[in-house]
Amino acid sequence: MDHTFQEHFKYTHRNPYHDKLTEFGDFLLRDEDSELNRGQWNEKVFGREGQLCAEIGSGYGHFMMDYCENNPSVNFVGMDFRFKRTFYLAKKLAAHPTKNFRYLRARGERLKFIFGENEVDHMFYFFPDPWPKKRHHKKRLFQQPFIEAAHHVMKPGATLWIKTDHDGYAEWMQEFMNKPEAQALFECKMHTTNLHEEHPDHFLASFKTKFEKIFVGQGIKIKAFELVSKK
Ligand SMILES: C[S@@+](CC[C@H](N)C(=O)[O-])C[C@H]1O[C@@H](n2cnc3c(N)ncnc32)[C@H](O)[C@@H]1O
Repeated sequence: MDHTFQEHFKYTHRNPYHDKLTEFGDFLLRDEDSELNRGQWNEKVFGREGQLCAEIGSGYGHFMMDYCENNPSVNFVGMDFRFKRTFYLAKKLAAHPTKNFRYLRARGERLKFIFGENEVDHMFYFFPDPWPKKRHHKKRLFQQPFIEAAHHVMKPGATLWIKTDHDGYAEWMQEFMNKPEAQALFECKMHTTNLHEEHPDHFLASFKTKFEKIFVGQGIKIKAFELVSKK
């Protein structure tokens, strides 16, 4: 298993933006600090009840910001591991009208250490890096350890929402979801290779992320999954 999924993993970096991120300490947590609130996000961090949402790879944050604004009662935890992108998003988040979010400079592989068992209500994973070259496929996040970690932190009946532009990554996810090990953890409630035409009324078709707008503009069909945690 990739060591990033394991308990002993430690973040290492030499990026000048790492220090700059301390400026946003009231809502941004870095690296191991993102793992200090496991199981206590609502109670300790947000100080209120609410559906706990987790987004992996928030990028420039458009989905996160819109969702937080449109759903003020949710407690939203976005994460991304790119430093510069996190810095520019943090600047925007600092000025955002709602404060129902936290942001993590963290890796999606760390889900099990960031969240407690049965803590998350909704998980969003939109336009993940597809690692198109065969020799890089092992870097794809969506693999059995990720599926298990996501299932572990999600409540019974919670949903993992996924969209991708990439045919190869969508097929890869579909193959994983066809395996009995994955089917024991999630029910695939919806899978499409053409979201906006086949399911125009679905929640996932009700918004387009920043990257999605680019892909749709290029005529690329959006692939999507709605996976419900079985417990
Ligand atoms: C193609 S962008 C999509 C951004 C946004 N979700 C959207 O749809 O506009 C993918 C983002 O995922 C982040 N990312 C990729 N792998 C990640 C991982 N393992 N953990 C956290 N973030 C990750 C990248 O840094 C990048 O910002």
